[in-house]
Amino acid sequence: MSRAVLKAVGLAKSYPSPGGKIVVLQDINLEVRQGEMVHITGPSGSGKTTLLGCLSGLLAPDAGHVLFHDKSLPSSDSAKARLRREHMAFVFQTGNLLPYLTAVQNAALALILKGTPQRKALDMASRLLTEFGLGERLRHYPERLSGGEQQRVAVARAALSGAEVLLADEPTGNLDDANSRQLAEHLAGLRHSGCAVVVVSHDPMFRELADITVRLRGGRLEVG
Ligand SMILES: Nc1ncnc2c1ncn2[C@@H]1O[C@H](COP(=O)(O)OP(=O)(O)OP(=O)(O)O)[C@@H](O)[C@H]1O
Ligand SMILES: [Mg+2]
Repeated sequence: MSRAVLKAVGLAKSYPSPGGKIVVLQDINLEVRQGEMVHITGPSGSGKTTLLGCLSGLLAPDAGHVLFHDKSLPSSDSAKARLRREHMAFVFQTGNLLPYLTAVQNAALALILKGTPQRKALDMASRLLTEFGLGERLRHYPERLSGGEQQRVAVARAALSGAEVLLADEPTGNLDDANSRQLAEHLAGLRHSGCAVVVVSHDPMFRELADITVRLRGGRLEVG
């Protein structure tokens, strides 16, 4: 069996609120292995985005811990940021793109930050965006892209990054069935290069593509 890349052990998280604290996650245990796609589902407000936040170190859990290759995430913010930059790629629910970069520049960004020569990175980004149906939109700035187009650019950037772990939050939320399937299959295909993919989605298509589907309900994680 392949190695665990990310592991959540006994995670708990609540948020303070005027009406008393909101308990979002309770005793969450999850393992994500190299070359595996884990699909997280659950009702709106059940804590899926919060869980992704904890897994990436963007949010500090109240209890429990997250292991990256069997080592606890570093405690300093700068070390956590470095780990994310070097090993993780993200597709967030909103606000993925830098407004002052074009679609192709946004998609190439992670590659360029990792040292790929600019021309090669832009070329790879153009090809993937074209595959995703955005060949006519390469030089559009995000404000001139539809929500679904922005989402495809964000997925392209994450997919190209070569990251060990890809965390995607509703990556097909704004897309029609055909585009959703293409994107989902591309994400699933990243497993062949050893990438661990964690995808939050209501889309039942991920049930067939993922190695495992887990469901958040009442703060707990259930299989299936
Ligand atoms: N910063 C915060 N402060 C207080 N409450 C928060 C905060 N962030 C999220 N919440 C609450 O925590 C719960 C879980 O939020 P989260 O965003 O993780 O849900 P989700 O499963 O991703 O939902 P969705 O499917 O709608 O994206 C929600 O009830 C939300 O209102
Ligand atoms: Mg969410």
